[in-house]
Amino acid sequence: MMTPTLRAGMVGVGMIFDETYRPFFEQAHAEGGLYDRRFGLCRVELAGIASRTGARADAFRKASAGKVAEFASYAGADATAQLLKSNVDFVCVATPDNRHFEAAKAVLAAGKHLLIEKPSVLSLDELDELERLARERGVLAKVVYHKLLDPDHKKLRTLVVDNELQHVNNGYCTLLEPKSISGGQFAEWIVGRNPGTYVAVHYIKLIDFTFGGRLKSVSCTGQRGIVGPADGPTWDSTQLRMIYEYADGREAAFDIHTSWVTPDNFPGYVEQEVQFRFDNGVWNGHSRKRGIECTIEGSTPFKRKTTMNNHYNGTFVEPWGARSQRGYGIEVIERFARELAFVEHGGSASDRTSRLEQVRKLSYNDLAADRQTVAAVQAMEAILGRHVAGMPNCVVEIDHKAGGLVLLKPGSNEQEVLYSGRVNAAR
Ligand SMILES: NC(=O)c1ccc[n+]([C@@H]2O[C@H](COP(=O)([O-])OP(=O)(O)OC[C@H]3O[C@@H](n4cnc5c(N)ncnc54)[C@H](O)[C@@H]3O)[C@@H](O)[C@H]2O)c1
Repeated sequence: MMTPTLRAGMVGVGMIFDETYRPFFEQAHAEGGLYDRRFGLCRVELAGIASRTGARADAFRKASAGKVAEFASYAGADATAQLLKSNVDFVCVATPDNRHFEAAKAVLAAGKHLLIEKPSVLSLDELDELERLARERGVLAKVVYHKLLDPDHKKLRTLVVDNELQHVNNGYCTLLEPKSISGGQFAEWIVGRNPGTYVAVHYIKLIDFTFGGRLKSVSCTGQRGIVGPADGPTWDSTQLRMIYEYADGREAAFDIHTSWVTPDNFPGYVEQEVQFRFDNGVWNGHSRKRGIECTIEGSTPFKRKTTMNNHYNGTFVEPWGARSQRGYGIEVIERFARELAFVEHGGSASDRTSRLEQVRKLSYNDLAADRQTVAAVQAMEAILGRHVAGMPNCVVEIDHKAGGLVLLKPGSNEQEVLYSGRVNAAR
């Protein structure tokens, strides 16, 4: 019998491809696939890459010779369309944040399973469209939030699920990226963008997934003047506030501060900190305090990070001698591949629909469970957009009587409906 195979397509081959997708595909190739008693051995091979110029795909082909199977490279304006005409089973979309929707829609419309980088999309209308297509075509539509697989965040959620930490009251999260990120790698697409959508979204999802509740309102401000002009549309840093309400009527407020203009020699290369306060406890997490500080003359902090996150994605010599690259950033992609292998090869064809429904219920990665996160992102983008247009400090209310997302302007009775459907169907 032929070994079942999942053939993968990739749209966008930038930093995140190199950090997580590349090692996943190399490992799946080296190990001959994934094994699970429900689907047996299933090969997973990278079959095609769509990119704008083909240059990065070519560079990857050279660097990965022998490490992945032969793959096709499609370049130019219709690269994604060409990739979708080939016989791929699923496609990973890792283009810049504001270019996910178009590619994701084409993937689903072609009846291929979809794995999309965070933030899934920037508006609820787009999310509705993708969800509709996924249902219509009978395929999975999943999003990567790898911080949910961070062992520290899993422990936080375990203590919440087990009611050891009781009722979150408030909290803060910060994530600071170095200037080299906004000024280098991202320079091509950064105009008009903000670090909130790029990285606050990790914590929006963490809060939404870990504590549940109903998102009530979103406010946001930020600073400009380093990445672009002080009166321009590109943000250096943002401060987002979300208010949630829980089943017992009590509320919690969360502040998420992000930046991509932190000095490059700051010891916390990607500085991450969270604090959540509960009725009966406090959870503190700090990327540098949990981790490693390593100095090597002539190397740190530029060539090698001083504070490395060996849980996310690290290269290691294993105690048994093998070289490896592993961590939760790679695990999250493997998890998706296993879920997909279960849907397609985990039993009889007649039970495929029930397997598909079972995997769709996994709320950590399903697009159907991404509504409040997308609502927060859409609200933040709208508030920052009004700020640029001369009206700072707007607030967005969720499931307001006038609509699902309603922008309220300071000093004005005018209400602007950003999304007319309900964010939470139950209300
Ligand atoms: N999970 C994480 O922690 C994490 C970390 C970094 C980035 N990301 C996400 O991954 C995505 C990509 O980020 P990145 O850091 O790799 O950015 P990047 O700038 O390094 O790479 C983006 C890639 O997309 C390509 N691209 C741009 N427009 C395209 C289009 N229309 N069609 C096809 N390819 C196109 C670019 O040429 C480049 O190869 C973003 O959505 C980002 O939020 C996630």
